[in-house]
Amino acid sequence: MRTLATQRYTMYNAKDEKRLYELSKSLLAGNAAMFPEEQVAQLSDVIRYHEWKYYVQNNPVVSDFEYDQLYKKLETLEKEHPDLLSSESPTQRVSSDLTEEFKTVSHIIPMLSLDNSYNLEDLQKFDTQIKKLTGESDIEYVVEPKFDGGSIAVIYENDKLTRGATRGNGAQGEEMTPNARAIRAIPLKAAFSEHGIYKVELRGEAVIRKDYFEKLNKERIEEGLPILANARNSAAGALRTKDPGETAKRGIEAFIFQMGYAVDKQEVDMLPGFVHHEATIHLLEGLGFKVAHRSRKICKTIEEVHDFVKEWELKRDDYPYEIDGMVIKVNDFALQEKCGYTSHHPRWAIAFKFKAKQATSKLLNIEYQIGKIGSITPVAKIEAVQLAGVTVTSVSLHNEDFITGKDIRIGDTVLVERAGDVIPYIVKPMVELRDGSEHPVEFPRECPVCNTPLIRSENEAAWRCPNYDCEERVIQRMIFHVSKDAMDIDGFGYKFIRKFYQLGWLRTLADIYQLDYEQIAALEGFGQKSADKLRTSINKAKKNSIRRFLHSLSVHHLGKRASQLIAERIHHVMDLKSWKIEDYTDIPDIGPVVAENVYDFFHDEKQMAVLEEMEALGVNMIQTEADKPIEVAADAPLIGKTILFTGTLHHMGRKEAQKLAAEAGAKNISAISSNLNILVAGEKAGSKLKKAIALGTVEVMTEEEFLALIGKEINV
Ligand code: IVH
Repeated sequence: MRTLATQRYTMYNAKDEKRLYELSKSLLAGNAAMFPEEQVAQLSDVIRYHEWKYYVQNNPVVSDFEYDQLYKKLETLEKEHPDLLSSESPTQRVSSDLTEEFKTVSHIIPMLSLDNSYNLEDLQKFDTQIKKLTGESDIEYVVEPKFDGGSIAVIYENDKLTRGATRGNGAQGEEMTPNARAIRAIPLKAAFSEHGIYKVELRGEAVIRKDYFEKLNKERIEEGLPILANARNSAAGALRTKDPGETAKRGIEAFIFQMGYAVDKQEVDMLPGFVHHEATIHLLEGLGFKVAHRSRKICKTIEEVHDFVKEWELKRDDYPYEIDGMVIKVNDFALQEKCGYTSHHPRWAIAFKFKAKQATSKLLNIEYQIGKIGSITPVAKIEAVQLAGVTVTSVSLHNEDFITGKDIRIGDTVLVERAGDVIPYIVKPMVELRDGSEHPVEFPRECPVCNTPLIRSENEAAWRCPNYDCEERVIQRMIFHVSKDAMDIDGFGYKFIRKFYQLGWLRTLADIYQLDYEQIAALEGFGQKSADKLRTSINKAKKNSIRRFLHSLSVHHLGKRASQLIAERIHHVMDLKSWKIEDYTDIPDIGPVVAENVYDFFHDEKQMAVLEEMEALGVNMIQTEADKPIEVAADAPLIGKTILFTGTLHHMGRKEAQKLAAEAGAKNISAISSNLNILVAGEKAGSKLKKAIALGTVEVMTEEEFLALIGKEINV
């Protein structure tokens, strides 16, 4: 009896890898064996190896070009010597014959579905039932991703791939052997016989990498083909295409997650010999199949299962393949047997489903938002839908090309997706649901507010209202000016800006600094207290750094970083009146576009009059400490590291912490990703902390540890 293997099997050991790599280089250099038989064998061996490196391990060791050359060499040889051509040759993955029709075939063992769970309570119920059915008190579970693609079942007989089929209705599926052969992550031959297995049926899921899927869609847009809705449908669709070449083109991969049936030559069941599900997966990995290994875990308790699946729910968007949940399986085959099956699902397994990311809704109409620099953004108003726990009613459509590229029409049923913290977006219109009442979008050619004809420069995707005094642009500039990112005037939201504008109190940015607080206090819904609060915030903002001030002016292309680079180099904001274009472009990281825009702004008399008025009203225009460049010592402890602070800090404010980190050489970043090195977690750190832990690559530390790291004393 084989027991649970602890070591990791690989298809090739280091020696094999070295040999095949060197053989590839030698073949590429034009060296060839004496006899054609040997040449074919060598080329087949190295090509199989490179396909495994590329499609199973995602770690190619030769370039695509080199792979193609080896492939072509083999193809030529086989043409010259047709007698040497075998159906397991790597060149025989994609046959040229189109499949006329799919044959219905029976699965050796029915492909059942899975029962679903959504929370800890569901999992605990499952666990209790398993314990009851098996009579055991300790159960080991294997937990792995639930891939969201197209189900497949492949059969190997005498080490050769003999049949591929879709899941179909579970009992019977459609045979699609040529398509299965076109999937390079599925070996055409695998040494099952070395393990005493003569015939085996494997279950898996055909998937497309998310980044590859996006690339594919971009190409389809360029070629004028309809876009594919999502990676899942495309993978499932590619299994059922009549043209195996299309399966190959879509870059389909396949994860194998189950050995459903395995017998020896005498048809004796070999599965019990493996004892555990995990051992069969190890074997498959060793035979060259693609399995979920880093994302798979053996858990000893259902609570551990729950922690692991929740961790994966957070990591889901960072995983290269679409997954819609996790699958929990009893590891021990004998215990699986004791649990048995319902007609619908095995009782020894359950899926834990993540919250839905996609839903359909109706596109009711489109509104056009005008930004502070005049960009027009179309926004779809849709019937409310729940996506990953949030109600969505508005979805940005980005620009005109996005609408025409996807042929989105008003009245369409649209597929909406919300992934992680990303803003929701429209995946596609459901063309098949159109009834003729939908109508194409007529993108405006005039500003919907001031009627000025819109412009669009060659290298920009957005149409813009060029009228600097367009009422909406003025309001948007003010909203930005007071926002957190700019002058950070606490308690001065967009609602007040709109109201004060309507009342005629605000016309230019300077008006923000000469509001009549008595009038404000008298406004309905305002009162003395909030008027006083607003006055305090505005007075505080007057002392802001000039880098904040420059950024707050909404000069086209002048972002935070460029504002800082300029602020570092001037004493007074009005110094910029005498700056030439080259003075800007001489600054590393400032390009001609920014330079020209800032130059124009400081040569516009109207703008200068507003700035002078602001200075007269007490707005700071002189370089402050915060504007001076941060000096990083050559031996600073965090050089080259990225850092993020989360939760409540007790020894310093968030800004101060970020400044300390920057002085220590670190770069502050705002989101958790694989680029993050250090997460400083304060009190009540929430999802960011969980996500960082889940990533496993982030160094998590306390505020005190951070201070110790940068050599600062804690001031209590
Ligand atoms: S095991 C008898 N494991 O989910 C148990 N299924 O709803 C068979 N799926 O049709 C399923 N990833 O195609 C299992 N790691 C995984 C899976 C997985 C995706 C699919 C499978 C099946 C469906 C069940």
